[in-house]
Amino acid sequence: MCGIVGIVGSQPVAPLIVDALKRLEYRGYDSAGVATIEKGELARRRAEGKLVNLERLVGAEPLAGTIGIGHTRWATHGVPNETNAHPHFSNGVAIVHNGIIENFAELRDELRADGYEFASQTDTEVVAHLVARELAHGAKPVEAAHNALKRLQGAFALAIMFKGDDDLIVGARNGPPLAVGHGEGEMFLGSDAIALAPFTNAITYLEDGDWAVVRRSGIAIFDMNGDAVERKRQQSLGTSFMVDKGNHRHFMEKEIHEQPEVIGHTLAHYLDFTSSRAKPLDLPFDFAKLDRIAISACGTAYLAGLIGKYWFERYARLPVDIDIASEFRYREMPILKGSAAFFVSQSGETADTLASLRYCRQAGVPIGAIVNVRESTIARESDVILPTLAGPEIGVASTKAFTCQLSVLAALAVRAAAARGAVSADDEKAMVRSLSEAPRYATQVLKLESQIEKVARELSHYRHVLYLGRDTNYPLAMEGALKLKEISYIHAEGYAAGELKHGPIALIDEKMPVIVIAPHDRIFEKTVSNMQEVAARGGKIILITDQKGAASASVDTLETIVLPDVPEFIAPIVYALPIQLLAYYTAVFMGTDVDQPRNLAKSVTVE
Ligand code: AGP
Repeated sequence: MCGIVGIVGSQPVAPLIVDALKRLEYRGYDSAGVATIEKGELARRRAEGKLVNLERLVGAEPLAGTIGIGHTRWATHGVPNETNAHPHFSNGVAIVHNGIIENFAELRDELRADGYEFASQTDTEVVAHLVARELAHGAKPVEAAHNALKRLQGAFALAIMFKGDDDLIVGARNGPPLAVGHGEGEMFLGSDAIALAPFTNAITYLEDGDWAVVRRSGIAIFDMNGDAVERKRQQSLGTSFMVDKGNHRHFMEKEIHEQPEVIGHTLAHYLDFTSSRAKPLDLPFDFAKLDRIAISACGTAYLAGLIGKYWFERYARLPVDIDIASEFRYREMPILKGSAAFFVSQSGETADTLASLRYCRQAGVPIGAIVNVRESTIARESDVILPTLAGPEIGVASTKAFTCQLSVLAALAVRAAAARGAVSADDEKAMVRSLSEAPRYATQVLKLESQIEKVARELSHYRHVLYLGRDTNYPLAMEGALKLKEISYIHAEGYAAGELKHGPIALIDEKMPVIVIAPHDRIFEKTVSNMQEVAARGGKIILITDQKGAASASVDTLETIVLPDVPEFIAPIVYALPIQLLAYYTAVFMGTDVDQPRNLAKSVTVE
């Protein structure tokens, strides 16, 4: 979602801001802009589309000024065009904003009645006018910003700059993240530490309700009452990662290929491969005494959690309630004592997941965060951080974060199963040994890439695809469909294979290929029956199975992708790779923007 950068610097900042915005590109955006103060006056450049357009504009019409704010906009209110792009100006006030001002309609009406005219369709412009109105009523810039902030409802991260003061940016956070970077005689603001990496790794994260006065000499942070608050300065971990595509065409391709390594790192964090036991964890609860687990997440992270449910219930005999976070946060479910809550998130900033966490916090149960960004808000608000060691994931389509989330959940399920006496010591060892082999199997699957590429070429000729699976392959079927639709824009649905005859079978014809995920497991034959039903209706089947499955499936397929035989427990981790590759190559053949698919954002900081 929108990205924010601000610099109170010592040299012309516009090119630096554009560069920093590039490091936020992964969040998703559809226009961008930058403003500085030149000779005491506000000046800005804004452009629709990719940052390269803004970069060209700033190259052709440079901006002087050693203070500036910049923005990548992911449209919420108003189409993505230059007029709606940030920064927004009002009478000497410049503003960039990430989030949604929920009471913007009411504020807009009030400001219109006061004579303020709106140049854009955005909710952000009300903030610029509110601050400008405060100035017009005689408030000094900092006071004007504070007074305006008090009127806002909703989720926002803001950076505000004032004509005539080239040593002041006011930053504010209520929801979406905002970090302050400390330099030598320079100060920075950014949506995350990655954006600020070229400048500094000394970071202070604002907390919800904080607003900050940022000057070259340092920062002062306040709460909404205007009382000064202390926030610690920390060394950012994220800054050590310089993220590039290496020899790969897309980040997504690179991230798919990183999986053997990052799955291995993640598993090694939780499992002792020498003794083949789950490592003891310092948890705020005892798995042996838990009655239930609640899991909440969005999108791919939710589907990882759903696979985790199968594992916890099957192996640890521990019941799991799992919800999509946007539902969880509002459905007022009772959170029983004796529960623990897990929140799964790559970014650690997803607004709905964070709201679910806070709901559970109020219910007083221990909270674990399975996150990829350890400095994220979800991580910081949890009782225990259970990290995925995937490294920065830049492609909007989550790949390596998903398999690392699965790795953490599988390791936790082993830990829970052992703690609850639900498995014997030998079973625990067997489970750990099978997990230790996941990276090797993942490497073997990557060798099937050219076959999968060919299947994807075929798939790219269709407009609709059905994915089927049973047991843990059911959430995986939904993940396959999600991956395909989000980057190739082919309509895809994932179903439990047993549900086929309760509706979706009506869709089957030669124009709708059916991808079936079916390793040779306990219920393989049941899935084969579903494939027969598809074949009998002229449906074309792409079967993803193992050697045993390929040898025994008595059904005609358009194509069969044969994976190595793997233990049932780790199959979801290994089978995730072919569905990612299928989506990736289909998107490549369709010619879509693989890493930044239309309308999507990497970090969904509004609900
Ligand atoms: C995955 O491919 C998606 N882009 C999306 O579903 C994502 O998993 C979801 O938005 C959750 O994000 P998070 O893991 O950062 O919380």
